[in-house]
Amino acid sequence: MVRAIEWLDVPRPMIRLIDQTLLPDTERYVDVTTVDVLVEAIGDLVVRGAPALGSTGALGVALAMIQAGEESWDAARLETEIDRIRDARPTAVNLAWGVNQVRGSMPRGTAEVLRLGLQVLAEDEAANRELSRRGADWVLAHVEKQEVRVITHCNTGALATSGWGTAYGIIHELHDRGRLGLVYADETRPLLQGARLTSWELLHDGIDHVVQADSAAASTILRGLVDVAIIGADRIAANGDTANKVGSVGLALACQRAGIPFIVAAPSSTVDLTIARGEDIVIEERCEDEVLGFAGSRTAPTGVGGFNPAFDVTPHDLISAVITERGIAETATQAHPDLLAIVAGRRG
Ligand code: MRU
Repeated sequence: MVRAIEWLDVPRPMIRLIDQTLLPDTERYVDVTTVDVLVEAIGDLVVRGAPALGSTGALGVALAMIQAGEESWDAARLETEIDRIRDARPTAVNLAWGVNQVRGSMPRGTAEVLRLGLQVLAEDEAANRELSRRGADWVLAHVEKQEVRVITHCNTGALATSGWGTAYGIIHELHDRGRLGLVYADETRPLLQGARLTSWELLHDGIDHVVQADSAAASTILRGLVDVAIIGADRIAANGDTANKVGSVGLALACQRAGIPFIVAAPSSTVDLTIARGEDIVIEERCEDEVLGFAGSRTAPTGVGGFNPAFDVTPHDLISAVITERGIAETATQAHPDLLAIVAGRRG
Protein backbone atom coordinates (compact mmCIF):
# COMPACT_ATOMS: atom_id res chain seq x y z
CA MET A 1 0.00 0.00 0.00
CA VAL A 2 1.28 3.45 -0.91
CA ARG A 3 2.03 5.79 1.99
CA ALA A 4 1.07 9.42 1.44
CA ILE A 5 2.81 10.63 4.62
CA GLU A 6 5.78 9.34 6.58
CA TRP A 7 7.96 10.70 9.36
CA LEU A 8 11.70 10.17 8.89
CA ASP A 9 14.39 10.81 11.52
CA VAL A 10 17.40 10.46 9.22
CA PRO A 11 19.27 12.14 7.59
CA ARG A 12 17.31 14.73 9.57
CA PRO A 13 13.78 14.93 10.99
CA MET A 14 11.27 15.46 8.20
CA ILE A 15 7.83 14.68 6.83
CA ARG A 16 8.07 12.76 3.56
CA LEU A 17 5.07 13.27 1.27
CA ILE A 18 4.37 11.58 -2.02
CA ASP A 19 3.75 14.43 -4.46
CA GLN A 20 0.14 13.81 -5.47
CA THR A 21 0.22 16.55 -8.09
CA LEU A 22 2.56 14.42 -10.22
CA LEU A 23 0.72 11.08 -10.01
CA PRO A 24 0.13 8.83 -11.83
CA ASP A 25 2.98 9.60 -14.24
CA THR A 26 5.71 10.36 -11.74
CA GLU A 27 6.28 8.90 -8.28
CA ARG A 28 8.29 11.57 -6.52
CA TYR A 29 8.59 12.41 -2.83
CA VAL A 30 8.87 15.82 -1.20
CA ASP A 31 10.95 15.96 1.99
CA VAL A 32 9.50 18.66 4.19
CA THR A 33 11.75 20.20 6.83
CA THR A 34 10.19 23.65 7.28
CA VAL A 35 6.76 25.10 8.01
CA ASP A 36 6.93 27.23 4.83
CA VAL A 37 7.36 24.15 2.64
CA LEU A 38 4.65 22.28 4.54
CA VAL A 39 2.09 25.09 4.18
CA GLU A 40 2.88 25.36 0.48
CA ALA A 41 2.57 21.57 0.03
CA ILE A 42 -0.85 21.59 1.69
CA GLY A 43 -2.05 24.55 -0.40
CA ASP A 44 -0.78 23.01 -3.64
CA LEU A 45 -2.37 19.60 -2.85
CA VAL A 46 0.95 17.75 -2.75
CA VAL A 47 -0.77 16.19 0.27
CA ARG A 48 -4.57 16.22 0.28
CA GLY A 49 -7.66 14.39 1.50
CA ALA A 50 -9.16 15.20 4.88
CA PRO A 51 -7.67 12.38 7.02
CA ALA A 52 -4.23 12.78 5.41
CA LEU A 53 -4.38 16.48 6.23
CA GLY A 54 -5.19 15.59 9.85
CA SER A 55 -2.08 13.45 10.15
CA THR A 56 0.04 16.03 8.34
CA GLY A 57 -1.20 18.71 10.76
CA ALA A 58 -0.29 16.58 13.79
CA LEU A 59 3.22 15.84 12.49
CA GLY A 60 3.53 19.47 11.37
CA VAL A 61 3.46 20.61 15.00
CA ALA A 62 6.49 18.43 15.78
CA LEU A 63 8.24 19.75 12.69
CA ALA A 64 7.53 23.35 13.74
CA MET A 65 8.95 22.67 17.22
CA ILE A 66 12.15 21.29 15.71
CA GLN A 67 12.47 24.31 13.40
CA ALA A 68 11.78 26.62 16.36
CA GLY A 69 14.73 25.07 18.20
CA GLU A 70 17.04 25.35 15.21
CA GLU A 71 16.09 28.94 14.40
CA SER A 72 15.58 30.18 17.99
CA TRP A 73 11.94 31.21 17.55
CA ASP A 74 10.20 32.60 20.60
CA ALA A 75 6.96 31.03 21.85
CA ALA A 76 4.75 33.55 20.03
CA ARG A 77 6.46 32.85 16.68
CA LEU A 78 6.04 29.12 17.17
CA GLU A 79 2.30 29.52 17.86
CA THR A 80 1.93 31.71 14.74
CA GLU A 81 3.68 29.12 12.58
CA ILE A 82 1.47 26.33 13.95
CA ASP A 83 -1.61 28.47 13.20
CA ARG A 84 -0.38 28.75 9.61
CA ILE A 85 -0.33 24.96 9.32
CA ARG A 86 -3.80 24.68 10.91
CA ASP A 87 -5.25 27.28 8.53
CA ALA A 88 -3.53 26.16 5.32
CA ARG A 89 -6.87 24.83 3.99
CA PRO A 90 -10.22 25.72 5.53
CA THR A 91 -12.79 23.04 4.70
CA ALA A 92 -11.37 19.72 5.95
CA VAL A 93 -11.85 19.90 9.70
CA ASN A 94 -9.29 17.11 10.15
CA LEU A 95 -6.40 19.55 9.54
CA ALA A 96 -7.25 21.69 12.58
CA TRP A 97 -8.29 18.57 14.48
CA GLY A 98 -4.89 16.94 13.87
CA VAL A 99 -3.00 20.07 15.00
CA ASN A 100 -5.18 20.32 18.10
CA GLN A 101 -4.66 16.65 18.99
CA VAL A 102 -1.01 17.31 19.76
CA ARG A 103 -0.77 21.05 20.43
CA GLY A 104 -1.75 20.80 24.09
CA SER A 105 1.22 18.48 24.70
CA MET A 106 3.87 20.93 23.54
CA PRO A 107 5.03 21.68 27.12
CA ARG A 108 5.96 17.98 27.37
CA GLY A 109 8.51 18.36 24.57
CA THR A 110 9.04 17.51 20.92
CA ALA A 111 9.49 13.77 21.45
CA GLU A 112 6.08 13.53 23.11
CA VAL A 113 4.39 15.63 20.41
CA LEU A 114 5.96 13.44 17.75
CA ARG A 115 4.84 10.30 19.56
CA LEU A 116 1.26 11.61 19.63
CA GLY A 117 1.47 12.68 15.99
CA LEU A 118 2.51 9.18 14.96
CA GLN A 119 -0.35 7.85 17.07
CA VAL A 120 -2.78 10.04 15.07
CA LEU A 121 -1.46 8.36 11.90
CA ALA A 122 -1.80 4.85 13.28
CA GLU A 123 -5.27 5.48 14.68
CA ASP A 124 -6.43 6.96 11.38
CA GLU A 125 -5.47 3.82 9.48
CA ALA A 126 -7.13 1.62 12.12
CA ALA A 127 -10.29 3.75 11.96
CA ASN A 128 -10.38 3.46 8.19
CA ARG A 129 -10.09 -0.33 8.31
CA GLU A 130 -12.88 -0.53 10.89
CA LEU A 131 -15.26 1.82 9.07
CA SER A 132 -14.61 -0.11 5.87
CA ARG A 133 -15.78 -3.35 7.49
CA ARG A 134 -18.85 -1.62 8.92
CA GLY A 135 -19.53 0.12 5.60
CA ALA A 136 -19.29 -3.10 3.59
CA ASP A 137 -21.70 -4.76 6.04
CA TRP A 138 -24.11 -1.83 5.63
CA VAL A 139 -23.92 -1.92 1.84
CA LEU A 140 -24.47 -5.68 1.68
CA ALA A 141 -27.45 -5.36 4.05
CA HIS A 142 -29.04 -2.69 1.83
CA VAL A 143 -28.14 -3.78 -1.71
CA GLU A 144 -29.49 -7.12 -2.82
CA LYS A 145 -26.90 -7.86 -5.46
CA GLN A 146 -24.23 -10.54 -5.62
CA GLU A 147 -21.87 -8.00 -7.19
CA VAL A 148 -22.44 -4.42 -6.06
CA ARG A 149 -21.72 -1.71 -8.64
CA VAL A 150 -20.35 1.47 -7.07
CA ILE A 151 -19.90 5.08 -8.10
CA THR A 152 -17.36 7.22 -6.25
CA HIS A 153 -16.07 10.77 -6.46
CA CYS A 154 -12.64 12.30 -5.87
CA ASN A 155 -9.95 10.19 -4.15
CA THR A 156 -10.52 8.64 -0.74
CA GLY A 157 -7.91 5.88 -0.80
CA ALA A 158 -4.56 5.36 0.90
CA LEU A 159 -3.36 8.58 -0.71
CA ALA A 160 -6.08 10.63 0.99
CA THR A 161 -5.52 9.11 4.44
CA SER A 162 -2.82 7.66 6.65
CA GLY A 163 -3.55 4.29 5.12
CA TRP A 164 -6.21 2.07 3.51
CA GLY A 165 -8.87 4.72 2.77
CA THR A 166 -12.45 5.60 3.66
CA ALA A 167 -15.01 5.36 0.84
CA TYR A 168 -12.24 3.64 -1.10
CA GLY A 169 -11.70 1.34 1.88
CA ILE A 170 -15.32 0.14 1.67
CA ILE A 171 -14.89 -0.50 -2.05
CA HIS A 172 -11.68 -2.42 -1.29
CA GLU A 173 -13.44 -4.42 1.42
CA LEU A 174 -16.32 -5.34 -0.94
CA HIS A 175 -13.69 -6.44 -3.46
CA ASP A 176 -11.92 -8.59 -0.86
CA ARG A 177 -15.24 -10.22 0.05
CA GLY A 178 -15.87 -11.06 -3.63
CA ARG A 179 -18.95 -8.84 -3.70
CA LEU A 180 -17.80 -5.93 -5.88
CA GLY A 181 -18.98 -5.29 -9.44
CA LEU A 182 -17.71 -2.49 -11.67
CA VAL A 183 -16.57 0.78 -10.06
CA TYR A 184 -17.35 4.08 -11.80
CA ALA A 185 -14.70 6.60 -10.76
CA ASP A 186 -15.65 10.22 -11.49
CA GLU A 187 -12.67 12.03 -13.01
CA THR A 188 -13.24 14.92 -10.53
CA ARG A 189 -12.67 18.23 -12.29
CA PRO A 190 -10.74 20.42 -12.13
CA LEU A 191 -7.74 18.64 -10.55
CA LEU A 192 -8.68 15.08 -11.56
CA GLN A 193 -8.21 13.32 -8.24
CA GLY A 194 -10.48 10.55 -9.54
CA ALA A 195 -8.85 10.04 -12.95
CA ARG A 196 -5.29 10.39 -11.67
CA LEU A 197 -5.33 9.05 -8.11
CA THR A 198 -8.36 6.80 -7.55
CA SER A 199 -7.78 5.05 -10.84
CA TRP A 200 -4.09 4.59 -9.98
CA GLU A 201 -5.00 2.99 -6.66
CA LEU A 202 -7.77 0.83 -8.16
CA LEU A 203 -5.41 -0.39 -10.86
CA HIS A 204 -2.76 -1.18 -8.28
CA ASP A 205 -5.32 -3.11 -6.18
CA GLY A 206 -6.61 -5.05 -9.21
CA ILE A 207 -10.13 -3.61 -8.96
CA ASP A 208 -12.27 -3.46 -12.09
CA HIS A 209 -13.21 0.12 -12.88
CA VAL A 210 -13.83 2.79 -15.46
CA VAL A 211 -13.18 6.51 -15.27
CA GLN A 212 -16.00 8.76 -16.41
CA ALA A 213 -16.48 12.51 -16.85
CA ASP A 214 -18.16 14.09 -13.83
CA SER A 215 -20.93 15.21 -16.17
CA ALA A 216 -21.75 11.55 -16.93
CA ALA A 217 -22.42 10.67 -13.29
CA ALA A 218 -26.09 11.61 -12.97
CA SER A 219 -26.96 9.79 -16.16
CA THR A 220 -24.97 6.69 -15.13
CA ILE A 221 -27.02 6.59 -11.93
CA LEU A 222 -30.39 7.21 -13.62
CA ARG A 223 -29.66 4.54 -16.27
CA GLY A 224 -29.45 2.00 -13.44
CA LEU A 225 -25.77 1.24 -13.95
CA VAL A 226 -24.83 1.56 -10.28
CA ASP A 227 -26.27 0.24 -7.01
CA VAL A 228 -24.73 2.62 -4.48
CA ALA A 229 -22.72 5.86 -4.33
CA ILE A 230 -19.92 5.93 -1.74
CA ILE A 231 -18.04 9.16 -1.06
CA GLY A 232 -15.73 10.58 1.60
CA ALA A 233 -16.10 13.80 3.59
CA ASP A 234 -14.15 16.89 4.56
CA ARG A 235 -16.47 18.07 7.32
CA ILE A 236 -19.70 16.64 8.66
CA ALA A 237 -21.91 19.12 10.52
CA ALA A 238 -23.88 18.15 13.63
CA ASN A 239 -27.06 17.64 11.62
CA GLY A 240 -25.29 15.33 9.14
CA ASP A 241 -24.89 17.87 6.30
CA THR A 242 -21.62 16.91 4.61
CA ALA A 243 -18.97 18.91 2.77
CA ASN A 244 -17.00 16.93 0.22
CA LYS A 245 -15.33 17.47 -3.15
CA VAL A 246 -17.44 19.63 -5.46
CA GLY A 247 -19.71 17.40 -7.52
CA SER A 248 -20.78 15.21 -4.59
CA VAL A 249 -24.21 16.79 -4.14
CA GLY A 250 -25.09 16.10 -7.76
CA LEU A 251 -24.51 12.41 -7.15
CA ALA A 252 -26.74 12.56 -4.07
CA LEU A 253 -29.58 14.18 -5.99
CA ALA A 254 -29.36 11.58 -8.73
CA CYS A 255 -29.27 8.74 -6.17
CA GLN A 256 -32.39 10.08 -4.46
CA ARG A 257 -34.20 10.16 -7.81
CA ALA A 258 -32.97 6.67 -8.70
CA GLY A 259 -33.87 5.31 -5.26
CA ILE A 260 -30.38 3.97 -4.49
CA PRO A 261 -28.29 4.60 -1.34
CA PHE A 262 -25.84 7.48 -1.17
CA ILE A 263 -23.41 6.93 1.70
CA VAL A 264 -20.66 9.01 3.28
CA ALA A 265 -17.63 7.27 4.81
CA ALA A 266 -15.30 9.12 7.18
CA PRO A 267 -13.39 8.68 10.42
CA SER A 268 -15.12 10.27 13.43
CA SER A 269 -12.45 13.02 13.33
CA THR A 270 -14.36 14.46 10.34
CA VAL A 271 -17.51 15.05 12.40
CA ASP A 272 -17.60 18.66 13.62
CA LEU A 273 -20.25 19.23 16.27
CA THR A 274 -19.30 22.91 16.55
CA ILE A 275 -20.94 23.42 13.15
CA ALA A 276 -24.71 23.07 13.36
CA ARG A 277 -25.49 22.76 9.67
CA GLY A 278 -23.94 22.74 6.23
CA GLU A 279 -24.48 26.46 5.46
CA ASP A 280 -21.97 27.24 8.23
CA ILE A 281 -19.13 25.21 6.69
CA VAL A 282 -16.45 27.38 5.05
CA ILE A 283 -16.02 26.26 1.45
CA GLU A 284 -12.53 26.74 0.05
CA GLU A 285 -12.41 28.73 -3.17
CA ARG A 286 -9.32 27.92 -5.17
CA CYS A 287 -7.48 29.82 -7.89
CA GLU A 288 -9.63 30.45 -10.98
CA ASP A 289 -6.84 29.21 -13.27
CA GLU A 290 -7.69 25.65 -12.20
CA VAL A 291 -11.04 25.86 -14.05
CA LEU A 292 -10.11 28.22 -16.85
CA GLY A 293 -7.54 25.87 -18.31
CA PHE A 294 -6.63 22.24 -18.71
CA ALA A 295 -3.24 20.53 -18.31
CA GLY A 296 -1.49 23.86 -18.06
CA SER A 297 -3.07 25.48 -21.17
CA ARG A 298 -5.82 28.03 -21.04
CA THR A 299 -9.12 26.79 -22.48
CA ALA A 300 -11.51 29.66 -21.63
CA PRO A 301 -11.27 32.89 -23.65
CA THR A 302 -8.88 35.49 -22.30
CA GLY A 303 -10.60 37.97 -19.99
CA VAL A 304 -13.22 35.53 -18.67
CA GLY A 305 -13.33 34.98 -14.89
CA GLY A 306 -13.62 31.65 -13.11
CA PHE A 307 -15.59 30.33 -10.13
CA ASN A 308 -13.79 27.50 -8.36
CA PRO A 309 -15.36 26.22 -5.12
CA ALA A 310 -13.39 23.11 -4.16
CA PHE A 311 -16.23 21.53 -2.15
CA ASP A 312 -20.00 21.39 -1.95
CA VAL A 313 -22.43 20.46 0.80
CA THR A 314 -24.85 17.57 0.58
CA PRO A 315 -27.88 18.08 2.83
CA HIS A 316 -28.32 15.28 5.37
CA ASP A 317 -31.70 14.23 4.01
CA LEU A 318 -30.00 13.13 0.79
CA ILE A 319 -27.53 10.93 2.70
CA SER A 320 -28.62 7.40 3.50
CA ALA A 321 -25.90 6.84 6.12
CA VAL A 322 -22.70 8.31 7.51
CA ILE A 323 -20.34 5.42 8.18
CA THR A 324 -17.63 5.94 10.82
CA GLU A 325 -15.38 3.59 12.79
CA ARG A 326 -17.48 4.27 15.87
CA GLY A 327 -20.91 3.75 14.43
CA ILE A 328 -23.31 4.55 11.64
CA ALA A 329 -25.67 7.54 11.56
CA GLU A 330 -28.62 7.02 9.26
CA THR A 331 -28.83 10.73 8.66
CA ALA A 332 -32.14 11.01 6.87
CA THR A 333 -33.79 9.80 10.06
CA GLN A 334 -31.80 10.61 13.18
CA ALA A 335 -28.55 12.43 12.41
CA HIS A 336 -27.95 14.50 15.45
CA PRO A 337 -28.16 11.97 18.30
CA ASP A 338 -26.20 9.37 16.36
CA LEU A 339 -23.41 11.79 15.49
CA LEU A 340 -23.26 12.93 19.10
CA ALA A 341 -22.77 9.34 20.18
CA ILE A 342 -20.05 8.82 17.58
CA VAL A 343 -18.11 11.85 18.72
CA ALA A 344 -18.64 11.12 22.41
CA GLY A 345 -16.53 7.98 22.12
CA ARG A 346 -13.61 9.38 20.18
CA ARG A 347 -10.31 10.69 21.52
CA GLY A 348 -10.54 14.52 21.60
O1 MRU B 1 -9.25 18.88 -2.47
P1 MRU B 1 -8.99 17.50 -1.95
O2 MRU B 1 -8.38 16.60 -2.97
O3 MRU B 1 -8.22 17.52 -0.65
O4 MRU B 1 -10.43 16.93 -1.63
C1 MRU B 1 -10.55 15.65 -1.07
C2 MRU B 1 -11.93 15.21 -0.90
O5 MRU B 1 -12.88 15.90 -1.14
C3 MRU B 1 -12.11 13.84 -0.31
O6 MRU B 1 -13.26 13.23 -0.81
C4 MRU B 1 -12.24 13.96 1.21
O7 MRU B 1 -11.21 14.72 1.74
C5 MRU B 1 -12.25 12.62 1.86
S1 MRU B 1 -10.68 11.81 1.71
C6 MRU B 1 -10.81 10.33 2.52
